[in-house]
Amino acid sequence: MGCEQFMLAIDKSADDFLYRQVIDLITENIDSGTLRPGDRLPSLRRMSKRIDVSIPTVRQAYIELERQRRVESRPQSGFYVRGLNANELVRPAPRFRQSNKPVPVANRSLMDRVYEGLHQPDFVPLGIANPCMAKPAAKALHRAMKRVMARAEERSIGYAPSMGEPGLRRQIAFRYLDTIGSNVEPDNICITNGAQEALLLALQAVASKGDVIAVESPTYHGLLELIGSLGMLAIEVETCPEEGVTLSALRKTLDAHPVKVCLFSTTLNNPLGVSMPDDMRQELVNIIDERELVLIEDDVYGDLLFDGHRPKPAEMYSRSGNVLTCGSFSKTAAPGYRIGWLLAGRYRDAIMRLKRSYSCSSGLLQQLTLTEFLASGTYDRYLKTLRPVLQQNAQRTRALVAQHFPEGTRTSKPVGGAVLWIELPGNVNSAHLFDEAINKGISIAPGLIFSPCARYENFMRLSFGHPWSEEIEQSIVWLGRKVQELAGR
Ligand SMILES: Cc1ncc(COP(=O)(O)O)c(C=O)c1O
Repeated sequence: MGCEQFMLAIDKSADDFLYRQVIDLITENIDSGTLRPGDRLPSLRRMSKRIDVSIPTVRQAYIELERQRRVESRPQSGFYVRGLNANELVRPAPRFRQSNKPVPVANRSLMDRVYEGLHQPDFVPLGIANPCMAKPAAKALHRAMKRVMARAEERSIGYAPSMGEPGLRRQIAFRYLDTIGSNVEPDNICITNGAQEALLLALQAVASKGDVIAVESPTYHGLLELIGSLGMLAIEVETCPEEGVTLSALRKTLDAHPVKVCLFSTTLNNPLGVSMPDDMRQELVNIIDERELVLIEDDVYGDLLFDGHRPKPAEMYSRSGNVLTCGSFSKTAAPGYRIGWLLAGRYRDAIMRLKRSYSCSSGLLQQLTLTEFLASGTYDRYLKTLRPVLQQNAQRTRALVAQHFPEGTRTSKPVGGAVLWIELPGNVNSAHLFDEAINKGISIAPGLIFSPCARYENFMRLSFGHPWSEEIEQSIVWLGRKVQELAGR
């Protein structure tokens, strides 16, 4: 970390206050790039020892630096470097210029191009939400897979049961109990091909072609594609970057339109990185129950809140059984294994039949490997090391955006996950930015694909789910310059 090498020279005979000298010393190290956005400053005690000044003096300096917005304090963690010359970045506001009504999903061809960009081997991957790739667990997973193959031999290449490998379902149930104290029956868990199939099964079980599905705005583009390909209609509900779905807006939408299902990510939304407070989640479930609707919760990021707090999915508040939860190991372990799950509740039998008819079952070797990974405790240990890396990446990305994007740029402050939602100054079209970035070998996700009716033209999503590198930094700087150019600054 940068703070190990920074220069430490305090002149006790100088007239200047000691705490001022400490401020100058840290500021110089930030300005020269020795200390970088996201780096943690030495603790008060350590700094005081290293430069031989008292702890209160160091504290005074750190507090002043915080006031100057050069560093920020994080509870129980310490002081961290903020971006150079950071404009104060305001979170994007919800956008509802057009009225919200049920619509078929648009923008499929732009989505095709975004996916093409994601899989170019040498592209800088700022367009894909891939948290676990920030610190991949590949070696540990390979070891687990080897152990499984040695033990299970022929069985490891066979079919899994349609509902999934019983050992993995038990491990998932155990995690719900262990992390949030919820009793989930292993028998009610259906293992799927990623969360995407869990969402498909859930939608198919509770809705039909032509039905109206309420989604957060903005929402994950994969959900929109799914709704579109099932011939369902999407209706957007205003979603606030601090609290998630605005419940008053939801009530209005439900009063005005025949919504059948709400499909939300209340534990952590993609792309806003917001987690709905528990009391609101409870109220949301009350609304669902009162109106006899179904809520499908897309809970793929709930284990990735930076502070390690695991929010209870909405299902845990429901008495009616009208909430279905979709989970996945794609964000927390191995996207390529394609292993997710669905808490099927009272739709269990329908879901089992759908699963069997669509894909028979999910890969057994991957399921056995994840069972081993979870049972050995490696998964939880891994998550503990992944979260701080993601938090640091988030901090660095925000700081770079603050420094290099034009005035008027706004950005989310994610509490977890791997993406930043950015509002660009009004006249910048992120689809044009996307084209320019692709030509430069950088993939980004343009805002348009996060709405069924192309609402977010001047927004973009940047991923920080990758190991930090000079190339990543330079790419963000390049994007900033390009946005300046497109904004005519
Ligand atoms: C919010 C959300 N839901 C679902 C998925 C799909 O997850 P999986 O790869 O497990 O199918 C993603 C992947 O990006 C996502 O961001």
